[in-house]
Amino acid sequence: MSEEMITHSAEETVRWGREFSKRLKAPVLVLLTGDLGTGKTTLTKGIVSGLGAANENDVTSPTFTLVHVYGRLAKVYHADLYRIESFHDFETLGMEDMFTTPSVAILEWSERFPLQSPWPQIRVRLEHLGGDARRITVL
Ligand SMILES: Nc1ncnc2c1ncn2[C@@H]1O[C@H](COP(=O)(O)OP(=O)(O)OP(=O)(O)O)[C@@H](O)[C@H]1O
Ligand SMILES: [Mg+2]
Repeated sequence: MSEEMITHSAEETVRWGREFSKRLKAPVLVLLTGDLGTGKTTLTKGIVSGLGAANENDVTSPTFTLVHVYGRLAKVYHADLYRIESFHDFETLGMEDMFTTPSVAILEWSERFPLQSPWPQIRVRLEHLGGDARRITVL
């Protein structure tokens, strides 16, 4: 099943993320791929708020912190592996906790670092289409 959607603003991408979140059931890895600025973090705002784990305005890029955790009982992890170089980094960042309880884990740039996980994965690709248009494909 491959599904495609074109959005024309950040708000529209957030809204799509909120709808998309309804089909996520922990444990699951959401792998976001796409060039810089395509909207991976923007989409995550929709997913995290759709899951009721945080307000979309409180979801920010984990570019430097590498991992953010939202929600109390049902945790949503949001990580950016752009700067991850080794499993050592992965462990020191506290991401190994992610796999101790079933959660929704959203990963930007996951292709940079091969993750071994038994959890089901959903890959979502984002592409620039010029201006504010983005193609979102669920793979
Ligand atoms: N249709 C759209 N969908 C998503 N974001 C959009 C759209 N149109 C414009 N934007 C803007 O593009 C930028 C996307 O930035 P965002 O941080 O979400 O990208 P990213 O893929 O996470 O980048 P990075 O790889 O640097 O983490 C934001 O400034 C957002 O407002
Ligand atoms: Mg980002």
